[in-house]
Amino acid sequence: MLRLPYQVVRGFKMSSVDQSMQLLRNQAYVNGQWVNAQSKAVYPVTNPADDKVITEVPDMDAHDTKAALDAAADAFKTWKKTTAKERSSILRKWYDICMKNSDYLAEIITAEAGKPLAESKGEIVYGSSFLEWFADTARHINGEVIPSPWPNKQIMVTRQPLGVVSIITPWNFPFAMITRKVSALMAAGCTCVIKPAEDTPLSALAAVQLAEEAGVPKGVINVVTASRKNAPNVGQVLCEDPQVGCISFTGSTHVGKILYGMAAKGVKRVSLELGGNAPFIVFPSADMDNALENAMLAKFRNNGQACVGANRFLVHEDVFNKFVTGLKEKIAQKCILGPGSKPGVTCGPLINTAQVNKITGLVDDAVSKGAKLMLGGKVASNIGNKFYESTLLTDVTPKMNIYKEEIFGPVVVCYKFKTEEEVLKIANSTRSGLASYVFTKDLGQAFRMSQELEFGMVGINSGMLSTTEAPFGGIKESGIGREGSKHGAEEYTDIKYTLFSALDK
Ligand code: SIN
Repeated sequence: MLRLPYQVVRGFKMSSVDQSMQLLRNQAYVNGQWVNAQSKAVYPVTNPADDKVITEVPDMDAHDTKAALDAAADAFKTWKKTTAKERSSILRKWYDICMKNSDYLAEIITAEAGKPLAESKGEIVYGSSFLEWFADTARHINGEVIPSPWPNKQIMVTRQPLGVVSIITPWNFPFAMITRKVSALMAAGCTCVIKPAEDTPLSALAAVQLAEEAGVPKGVINVVTASRKNAPNVGQVLCEDPQVGCISFTGSTHVGKILYGMAAKGVKRVSLELGGNAPFIVFPSADMDNALENAMLAKFRNNGQACVGANRFLVHEDVFNKFVTGLKEKIAQKCILGPGSKPGVTCGPLINTAQVNKITGLVDDAVSKGAKLMLGGKVASNIGNKFYESTLLTDVTPKMNIYKEEIFGPVVVCYKFKTEEEVLKIANSTRSGLASYVFTKDLGQAFRMSQELEFGMVGINSGMLSTTEAPFGGIKESGIGREGSKHGAEEYTDIKYTLFSALDK
């Protein structure tokens, strides 16, 4: 496919990888047009590995957001009338184009999010799988006809697209969190405005460029980019504008609650995928090699920056030493810290200084209160200012902040337990309820844990749950709604009941 030199990058010193970036865009996308902010304001997007500016993007505000919502509302009038087959075919084309451009998309993710190139490529495959899945699902959003209790009447139930969806996405999976939402809502017949994370707007813009090439009509997908300064105003319009039918957000529980509050004013539908505090439970019967392999996956995927990442390793006292020793060896062997674009690197930088400060604060607090540092424990300043060493802590107690908080970084925290009852109590003693992991060969125990763990997702003998076929989501303060699976598109529909009466007249 011929690529045009789209980007016009103003006088910045760019990191070397940027110059080859085929899908780099530096304008937002509204109503099928690549646009600047009405105010002409811009903000820089930097590479977390070296702090160099990749490019600048529009720093949009409430006015730009309103214009994007108007475009989405206008496009909804026609998109909702397309056939399921037409929507399916466009999603399928978008999938094919993303797969063809996976290397270009991956380099953008690595540049702005820092993750190793192999992980970025994995994210493209994962993220694109939602486009493929919802291309199929679009044709199976069925209604029902229910026998009525009255003669000569018929009850018909249909699922109708709910309208314009506001999408606010995080920086940790800047491509997949967009495709997971947009493919589902498009399949349902909705249109959207996306506000990508301040740190990672470029993956969103690249994805939308490919959507345009796939034939997504103007106004169906709009992207509004904004800095941290403008994000609250943009978010408010996205939640409160009367044209919006649903707010779909993936991110922190703190921000999710604010958005939920704003959505409540208009009694808007919400789809919230918020923070986790996943327990990773190892029983004595577990296959230890499998538990260790999966511990690495559950903790170090995206360097711990995942809401499904294992946060608390709860290990039975009989196998505690074996697990800790094994994990220490695996971390030392497999965690290779460095810029994501460097071959062989498996752990990239943290996304920004706030994350570095947070991880540093949590580890320092734990160590000052008696936690034992088995590995790591500081910023690897010989590589850069955002590279935190892969860290392993034991002897953690409830007095330490790290005991309660979502770490969202490369820090393994191991606790000892004695009984099934005790570990369930510890695991469930949180307001979070997203992912959980259990390692055991005892079938009855696996079943009991699946029943009793207060989490939306339970991985038995697996540290990886995410797949487009399964319903992804949490309970308690981890969210509302499900993404992926057959339920993902239903989130963006309203159920309509029509009573056909007087059928004998
Ligand atoms: C997340 O952890 O933020 C989502 C990751 C996933 O979809 O697996």
